[in-house]
Amino acid sequence: MDFKTQSAGAAGLSGLAADALLVVLASAEAAGSLDKPLADELARAIKDGDFTCKGGQSLYAHRVAGVKAARVAFVCAADGSAKGFRKAVAAGLNLLKAGGARALAVAPVGFATLDASHGEALVTAVADGLYVYRETKPSAAAPSRLRSVSLVCEKADTAVLATGLQIGQALVTGTTLAREWANRPGNHCTPTHLAQQARKLAKDHGLKVEVLERKDCEKLGMGSFLSVSQGSDEPPKFIVLRWMGGARTEAPVVLVGKGITFDSGGISIKPAAEMDEMKYDMGGAASVLGTLRAVAELKAKVNVIGIIPSCENMLSGRAIKPGDVVTSMSGQTIEILNTDAEGRLILCDALTYAERFKPAVVVDIATLTGACMIALGQHRSGLFSADDALAAELLAAGEKSQDLAWRMPLDDEYEDSLKTNFADVANVGSRYGGAILAAMFLKRFTGAYRWAHLDVAGTAWTKSPTKGGTGRPVPLLTHFVLSRAK
Ligand code: BES
Ligand code: MN
Ligand code: ZN
Repeated sequence: MDFKTQSAGAAGLSGLAADALLVVLASAEAAGSLDKPLADELARAIKDGDFTCKGGQSLYAHRVAGVKAARVAFVCAADGSAKGFRKAVAAGLNLLKAGGARALAVAPVGFATLDASHGEALVTAVADGLYVYRETKPSAAAPSRLRSVSLVCEKADTAVLATGLQIGQALVTGTTLAREWANRPGNHCTPTHLAQQARKLAKDHGLKVEVLERKDCEKLGMGSFLSVSQGSDEPPKFIVLRWMGGARTEAPVVLVGKGITFDSGGISIKPAAEMDEMKYDMGGAASVLGTLRAVAELKAKVNVIGIIPSCENMLSGRAIKPGDVVTSMSGQTIEILNTDAEGRLILCDALTYAERFKPAVVVDIATLTGACMIALGQHRSGLFSADDALAAELLAAGEKSQDLAWRMPLDDEYEDSLKTNFADVANVGSRYGGAILAAMFLKRFTGAYRWAHLDVAGTAWTKSPTKGGTGRPVPLLTHFVLSRAK
């Protein structure tokens, strides 16, 4: 998809050369500034009771007299914010995407200010609306004919909006990559497939890649990570990707992504209902791949390292059992009281491994707990950090990209729940505060670096409008990394 800015020119919106015109009104009053053919069409629809200019309303009109574009859609945004604009574009696109239009012009009308975030919102809304999963369903809906989208704006706004379009396009390639991999079934997305994708990403976009095999992980003493993989016939992969866009001496941002390509629960097996969805338990890993892709595409002047411990959590005669005690790379022993709390078991060794990079910060991203979904629903990711400044940075990156997070507590008192007679720590505690306990477990394995944890169990996947991956939190992470770039 090609995105650009375009000025309305002397002929106004009615004279704009495009196959389809999407008019996004910031308010009801904005309709007053439309040129006559468009204003008349809208007035007729309002008079007939087919349109009231309220946020979220949309109207399609075909071959409107005096309007050059054959297809016109009007949408009313809730307000002039980037969020309002994004939702409105999404609604408008639904009216136009299945049609014959190849070139779409999107005209914001009555917006007090237009900035980069509006450009970004346009690109992300379009990409979101047009994505179709095809990998294992080639017969899925015919692809949209849309090939180009232009954002109609005044000369004065062009430069800043063009920047927004550019960042938006990088975000979208990253988000789409994450979404695509989360959607792929466990037999099409094994640790080996993820490692192949990481290698391809490195080759195509100038990253360095290293894949540690089981033997390498054994040598490093990753007893916790390997214990999860031991019940599966799929070999584990520990993937390390590096984007070195900053100075050689600059401390890197390290992103650690949970890469469980299927979570059956292990011996503590999950109920059958919806177990299929546990193919997205590598959503954290996918978001690391996606973020690196976006950062590399923008050639950001910053060093970023992605670490992905990847394996399956399966049952077999060799699988870990409740009560087993394993030794992590940090030397701490862990009593596995529930084999379904496997995410923390693979992440803890990755957090220890991260120390060798002397990171500026480490952020881990994981579909870690159902409890986080209970606490926050599917709208906001759970953010855990003892570091106020880092937490604020991540929350701000989420606000900026409309990929929201919410900070959760990490008080020492929660730690008591993970105590056991048989090891340094247990992998589960009380049912209450499950998302916090998981974060408390991880915290024990963080080294002398600044650390934050994102629980994306609720946000990396959605059931509506269509079931599948969301690509979150690639927008949040990408903005976070960009805000740290020179
Ligand atoms: N991958 C799951 C968490 C999850 C659940 C992600 C639902 C997405 C949707 C994780 O490995 C898990 O099973 N967690 C357990 C922890 C419990 C055993 C303490 C959970 O949330 O039930
Ligand atoms: Mn699990
Ligand atoms: Zn899991």
